[in-house]
Amino acid sequence: MSRILVTGGAGFIGANFVRRLLETTEHDVTVLDAMTYAANLASLADLDERRFRLVKGDICDTAEVDRLVSTHDTVVNFAAESHNDNSLAQPRPFVQTNLVGTFELLEAVRKYDVRFHHISTDEVYGDLELDDDARFTETTPYNPSSPYSASKAGSDLLVRAWVRSFGIRATISNCSNNYGPYQHVEKFIPRQITNLIDGVRPKLYGSGVNVRDWIHVDDHNDAVLRIIDRGEIGRTYLVGADGETSNKRVVELTLQLMGHAADDYEYVADRPGHDLRYAIDASVLRDELGWIPRYVDFESGLRTTIDWYRNNENWWRPIKAATEAKYALSGQ
Ligand code: NAD
Ligand code: DAU
Repeated sequence: MSRILVTGGAGFIGANFVRRLLETTEHDVTVLDAMTYAANLASLADLDERRFRLVKGDICDTAEVDRLVSTHDTVVNFAAESHNDNSLAQPRPFVQTNLVGTFELLEAVRKYDVRFHHISTDEVYGDLELDDDARFTETTPYNPSSPYSASKAGSDLLVRAWVRSFGIRATISNCSNNYGPYQHVEKFIPRQITNLIDGVRPKLYGSGVNVRDWIHVDDHNDAVLRIIDRGEIGRTYLVGADGETSNKRVVELTLQLMGHAADDYEYVADRPGHDLRYAIDASVLRDELGWIPRYVDFESGLRTTIDWYRNNENWWRPIKAATEAKYALSGQ
């Protein structure tokens, strides 16, 4: 049994990860989370307090990070500013949390020789053409497009440098688009589901042809657990479940599953610099670590996710109006 520090554990993927850790392992879990707009206390409700505690704090806070890292065996870094649209409106917190925050964690794990796993994104590789078979691999050159993805790319490079120069025990995973329960309603899928519950038509950026490689959050977190257990120090692992789907198709499917005509959506202003297509080749993770995704049927995973938002309105209702007010400012 060990003590795991999960930064950003009150956000979407982190909260699902903490729940999974408590359900499937015997580890003690501490969450360090700044409780920004993206965090939700309700995502961590009803957890066993004998094995779990939440510390409200910032990964940029040197003293707090030092104190917490010194008493843990492993740090898993989910903490980040995560939304591309926000990074276009206000890039500063992205540079601060994603770069400076990662730096602070790296310095602390170096000092105490603590195992570190860094959660990153496929967006560091830029985007791919639509009419192309190419997919991202561990050797694809970094080519980020947005302030968000550039800050994540920078954080990955810091981790790599700390491994090479200081010998820290770290791994990195770069995952594609996650969906599932507890995802903030600013993100594409929960935004459309909750819009439909509210009688508002789904909104597609630009022409809707952009492709994302969808993976269920539990499959991502299973991969993270496997990398922490069996991953090779210094390595980067790509995580994806062959879920390439155009945004238009996602909206059409959501409409159908929620009992609406498949074309009952509207087009809104495009995202500046909008990445066209992401696609992950996860064969290294599959072949070397034996990871196999369980949610391979996107339609069924989407149906379950729709049910979750229908059944958990008390979780998302308090943040819905403010999220939509922010989108209204950019005509989206
Ligand atoms: P999220 O926005 O839902 O959650 C981020 C969490 O980090 C929030 O709880 C927030 O309060 C916390 N946080 C922000 N700044 C902090 C700070 N300075 N100190 C401490 N905590 C802070 O994000 P998510 O979608 O769960 O993403 C988690 C991680 O996974 C991020 O690193 C993101 O880049 C990466 N990722 C996300 C996806 C995706 O599809 N959502 C895919 C691949 C990788
Ligand atoms: O690829 C991994 C990344 O996936 C993560 O690193 C990010 O943290 C995560 O937010 C996500 O980034 P995207 O920008 O791809 O996700 P988002 O949910 O914002 O948008 C998904 C696609 O849907 C994208 O092409 C933009 C489009 N979109 C989004 C919204 C909110 C719409 O068409 N309409 C919308 O209302």
